[in-house]
Amino acid sequence: MQKINTQAEWIDRARAVLPAAGFGNFDAGIVIARGEGSHVWDEDGNEYIDYLIGSGPMLLGHGHEEVMEAVLEQLPKGMTFFANNAQGIALAEEIVDAVPCCEQVRFVTSGGEADMYAIRLARAYTGKTKILKFEGGYHGMSAEAQMSLAPARAVNFPTAVPDSAGIPQSVADEMLIAPFNDLEAVASLLSEHDDIAAIIAEPLQRIIPAAPGFLQGLRDLCDKHGVLLIFDEIVTGFRLAYGGAQERYGVTPDICTLGKIIGGGFPLAALGASAEIMAHFDKAHVGAEKWLMQLGTLSGNPVAAAAGLKTMEILRRPGQYDRLRALGQSLMDMQSAALSEAGIAHQICGDPTLFDIFFTAHEVKDYRSAKHLDPQDNAIWNASLRDDGIFKSPGKLYPSLALTEADLQQTKQAFSSAAVALANSKPVNA
Ligand SMILES: Cc1ncc(COP(=O)(O)O)c(C=O)c1O
Repeated sequence: MQKINTQAEWIDRARAVLPAAGFGNFDAGIVIARGEGSHVWDEDGNEYIDYLIGSGPMLLGHGHEEVMEAVLEQLPKGMTFFANNAQGIALAEEIVDAVPCCEQVRFVTSGGEADMYAIRLARAYTGKTKILKFEGGYHGMSAEAQMSLAPARAVNFPTAVPDSAGIPQSVADEMLIAPFNDLEAVASLLSEHDDIAAIIAEPLQRIIPAAPGFLQGLRDLCDKHGVLLIFDEIVTGFRLAYGGAQERYGVTPDICTLGKIIGGGFPLAALGASAEIMAHFDKAHVGAEKWLMQLGTLSGNPVAAAAGLKTMEILRRPGQYDRLRALGQSLMDMQSAALSEAGIAHQICGDPTLFDIFFTAHEVKDYRSAKHLDPQDNAIWNASLRDDGIFKSPGKLYPSLALTEADLQQTKQAFSSAAVALANSKPVNA
């Protein structure tokens, strides 16, 4: 590797070999050199408070001593085997203990993969094909998941619109799209279509909370119509509560998917359900016709499992979730205070463990209402935060358990400056 010093040089090199100069995930204008605790540093040495936390996995912060120890203990024993290993089996046991809907789990490598198999599993189990998905719901990159994820134009429900090139119309024909938080729309779709295998939902859709009774309503409708309920808990699992959104909200799905936190920062995800549903992964049990073939080179990777197990052990200690919620709530309050003081219309949306702002006075309840009045406001807010050393995604803020009081004070200052920048960007008489 040739010696290189500056971020700009790295960006130039990336432009030559990576489409859109990046990995596809995040602003290609920043190259992260390292992370420690609640902070990350870019290749120019600039330091940031990290509210991106790897898009969710690094709930304990970067380089947590005990997680590192667990990983370093596993590394010399082997990095991957393809075969069963003790770390993966112990992780499966821990997930089954923690997550209400899981009697068994199957490991995969990414959240999107888990969602893809959850959909296939629901089809295998019910013998039906259609999937009901909510507009704006994110379930990875499979053809089904790319339906009406972020449609640029509104079409009539339940028509599915692919958000990616390369997806055949036949996939869209098997999908039904409904507005999030609209139980009536779901009820009428389930009455009209008797070939629906599953409803897939994020229990907290991006940062939009389910209205009271919505998730239980989905559960009841699924039971009434013989449809499986899939909760995508890739983000909410082990974040909203140790047992995920299903524990927090008291609604148990048939199948759930997990990722991010359970791999402790390494590539690992899972899907879980009752033993009866999961039996479709077992050819000897269900027979060749009903068998869902599934394997993956890195599935149950022992290093990832060791990191996940230790992360979960730490999360089980008393007070961790209370502390996470308290940290998130103070950040939410700080945002709100700064914006109110500057006279900026806003909604702080989400859960204290994961949230962000919509710059609008309107209620946000689904994809179509989840809009900033002026998208520029969000861009100005995020740019000002970045200038003040706050690293976050444009539409989400993840608190971590590594945050310190000094981080909170610096963040409060940054929120105030961003609110002033936003106020100053408005015409005087607006
Ligand atoms: C709700 C949800 N589902 C699925 C995924 C896909 O997970 P992965 O990026 O690991 O494929 C994500 C990723 O952010 C997610 O937020």
